[in-house]
Order: sequence, then C-alpha cells, then structure tokens
Amino acid sequence: MTIEFRPQIKDLQAYKPGKPMENVKREYGLDRVIKLASNENPLGCSEKSKQAIQDALSHLNIYPDGNTTDLKETIAEKFNIKTTQILPSSGSDEMVDQISKTFIQEGDEVIMADITFPRYISTCKMMGGVPVVVPLKNHAYDLEGMKEKITDKTRLIWLCNPNNPTGTMFTKDVLDDFLQSVPQDIVVVYDEAYREYVTREDYPKNALEYLPKYPNLIIMRTFSKAYGLAALRVGYTLASEEIIDHINRIRGPFNVNTLAQVGAIAALKDDEFLQRSYDVNEEGKRYLYKIFQELNLEFAPSETNHIFVDVKKDAQEIFVELQKRGVIIRPIYGNFIRVSIGTMEENVTFVEKLREVL
Ligand SMILES: Cc1ncc(COP(=O)(O)O)c(C=O)c1O
Repeated sequence: MTIEFRPQIKDLQAYKPGKPMENVKREYGLDRVIKLASNENPLGCSEKSKQAIQDALSHLNIYPDGNTTDLKETIAEKFNIKTTQILPSSGSDEMVDQISKTFIQEGDEVIMADITFPRYISTCKMMGGVPVVVPLKNHAYDLEGMKEKITDKTRLIWLCNPNNPTGTMFTKDVLDDFLQSVPQDIVVVYDEAYREYVTREDYPKNALEYLPKYPNLIIMRTFSKAYGLAALRVGYTLASEEIIDHINRIRGPFNVNTLAQVGAIAALKDDEFLQRSYDVNEEGKRYLYKIFQELNLEFAPSETNHIFVDVKKDAQEIFVELQKRGVIIRPIYGNFIRVSIGTMEENVTFVEKLREVL
C-alpha cells in the first residue's frame, strides 16, 4: 500500500534557501561573508523594536494575542483605516498562501507576471488553479497584457509593485486604469513589499485610497524589508471587511508570534529608522548604478532595495565565483543576477569582488 499525496502537490518544488552565511564561511575558509541575496535591511532594525522584544522575553510561556489587537490598532491609527480591514500574518509569505486558500478552486485561472515573486505561482498550483503567466516587458509589469488575459475563468490577479526581482514599478495612472477595467468579481492582490523604498513621485503612494472604490482589492505589506524584521516573520494585509473576515476563517489561531507583534508595533513608531533605511538605500543605489555603468552592465531602474543586473556571463557561474569570495547574491536566470543594496562598505566589497570575477 502506498501513501497518496494530492496530485496538485506532485510537481511543486520545495523552496531552496541559499546557504547560511556560516556554512559559506566554513566551506570556503572565509573570515567574513556578506549576504546581498534576500533584500534584507543592512542596517538591522529599529532599536525600539529590539527593546520591545527584550521586554517581551519574560512572557514566552504565554500564547500570543491571537487577535493581534495592539498591532492592528497601531496600523489603524497610523494609516487611518478600520481595524476590521487589517489582518496581520506571519510574513507576507503566509498571506500569499492564505489568499490562495481563500479564493482559488480547481481550474480557476490566476493571472501573474513572469518573472515575479515565486510564491504566487506555487500557491496557485497547490490549490489546483491554472497559472496564466504574462511576461514582463522591459523588465516591468505589462498590465495591458495582463488585462488581455482576463476570461470568465479568471479568479485572481497578482500584482507586485515595485516588482521583485526586477525592482521596476508601474505608475498610479496605470494602476488606476487597471483597477477600473478589471471586473469586480476578480480579486486583485497588490503586493507592495518594497513600497517604503520607492522614490518616484508617480508611484501609487497611498494604495489604501483605492479600497473604498474597489472591494475586490487586497493590499499586502511586510515588515521584512525596510523595517528590517525579516527574522520575526510579520506582515499585514488590508482589504474590505468581508475579505478580511473570510481570510480570518482559515488562518491559524496564533499565527503571529508575540515577539513579532511587539517588534512590529515599535517599528511603526520609529520613522527615523525608516528614513535612514531609505537614505542608505538611495546612496547605495546611486553608487551601484555608477559602477554598473562604468562596467558597461545593463540594469533595470530600481525602486526597491535590490538591482537586477545583466552581468553578461552565466549568472549561476558569477554567483558561485562571488560566493567563493565571500559575497552571496541571487542568480535569477541566464545572465541576470539580483543584488540587494547593502551598507556602503558591503557595496564596495561586492563591487571589488564583482570586478574580480568579471
Ligand atoms: C514581493 C514580495 N512579496 C512578499 C515577500 C515575502 O515577504 P515576507 O518576509 O513578509 O514573507 C517578499 C520577500 O522577499 C517579496 O519580495
């Protein structure tokens, strides 16, 4: 007798995380390794978050607040939205999963870009949905192309703005037009994981303003990037009360742990840290642009904390050679790598090693 697995899961691949920095150190006998592979905040996180976490350590025996009451209230106050329209999660990752479980049924079509955040496609397949993939144009979302793919079977559309891994964005005008033309029985999920890094004025800075007009819209945000709390696993989602109520029915009772809750609340109260993260990112971005231009390497203009670069050589090879020299980046495909913007010192080291391997 053999165990049966759901057929939808058979062809899925487990997420392959990069090697931990300690393993890379040991393997190549290095004293120091820098990781510019996962779009983390090189400054760490707010001191206020650290203090809040310290203070909460004496309550580890108590279950977290399953309603994330204080976190929701802090978000509600800061962004002027009702607590019933907010749902925190264990990172956006968990929310991608929960949204797919809430909406996608066998045979439903789900429109997404390629290349974009990979969890959109894997959770779609997991639910038996049919991914309808629209290639990027010039490394950016092709919303016109996505619109053309809408059929009677379309259930959900994933948008990532700015996009991971290309760092590119689409404008408020483009989003306005898109939301207007999508039938309102199709769910549009708008993932703005990198919103805090955007510099351009024509970016939809306040996506929340769309919620009253578009009851089919879901907005996802995370504390893993500009807030520097990736290890805690915490993000939040904003949508109509009806959508939030339904997602709430399928989530685990204590999905956001206590340290994540207090850390996130404190992070929301530290605008100075957020500003510094933005400034350091901008400085690093300008420096890396200059170097890539000098090296004649093409890159996509980034509105995030990472840059998508054509290194003109096999990305996998460049990744291995950089790793041997203590710098971890992410090979994407072909000759394209994604490098996260680090501290200035990390950026300089990356450039030194990149010059060497090129
Ligand atoms: C576009 C996008 N969405 C969601 C996530 C997941 O973030 P989290 O750490 O909140 O799960 C990431 C992480 O890299 C991302 O790039």
